[in-house]
Amino acid sequence: MNFQEQKYLIVANWKMNPADSAEAKTLFKAIKKETAKIKNVEIVICPPFTQLLFARLPATGCRLSANLKLGAQNCFWKDDGAYTGEISPKMLKNLGCNFVILGHSERREFLSETNQIVNKKIQAALKNRLKPIVCIGEKEWNVNDFDFEGIKTQILESFEGIKKTNIQNIIIAYEPVWAIGSGQVPSENDIMKAVILIRRLFTEMYDQKIAQKLKILYGGSVNSRNAGNFISNAGINGFLIGKASLNAGEFVRIIKAISEDKQTGNNE
Ligand code: 13P
Repeated sequence: MNFQEQKYLIVANWKMNPADSAEAKTLFKAIKKETAKIKNVEIVICPPFTQLLFARLPATGCRLSANLKLGAQNCFWKDDGAYTGEISPKMLKNLGCNFVILGHSERREFLSETNQIVNKKIQAALKNRLKPIVCIGEKEWNVNDFDFEGIKTQILESFEGIKKTNIQNIIIAYEPVWAIGSGQVPSENDIMKAVILIRRLFTEMYDQKIAQKLKILYGGSVNSRNAGNFISNAGINGFLIGKASLNAGEFVRIIKAISEDKQTGNNE
């Protein structure tokens, strides 16, 4: 793909923050204002469920746009029914969400979410025209050898029965668990290695064209100092950002670093 056609995807995962919806609105509006003119980056804000509604209410001044979209951090695998405490993909779609993060390592760790559960959620999200952002990544950093077996299992099991025609609507977020919130990051080469292996696996599962077009994000301690290098040298299509997305100034700096980087981008 020509770099001029490349549209990067930057996803803000606010996790369980902020507790106050006034703060959420302020953050959303600041991001919207500062990124209004940016064309080559699609921004997706994923606030907690309780704060999803504000982006649809004209009175809040937080309206969504072509480049600024809304996503959720999780969903259930059924559209409705007796599932106490759950939120369905249908509800998210009705609220104006276009994306949903699935299988985040924090859900795998604290809520015992398995690849089989992620698989059911991917199918339910697709049925409701939500784009799943499927998180995968190794738990520990292995200095001697990149351990791809765990990631391979995550992908094979999570994508069981997912049709070829749906892959264009799915995004992979490669998030090494050890890099999340730790301030430690893999080298650009290591991210590139993971990206190549993921594309190779998708070539085997589907075909080469699909694998090449697959959007792969990197997540884990992304900031405005490392974002430009990752985009230029790691073969990724964007980022899934936690902590830095809660600081409007820093989040916008990351977006601008990528936006300027389109001059040198080699992200095929
Ligand atoms: P940090 O950017 O805080 O490391 O979190 C990454 C993440 O988990 C995004 O989903």
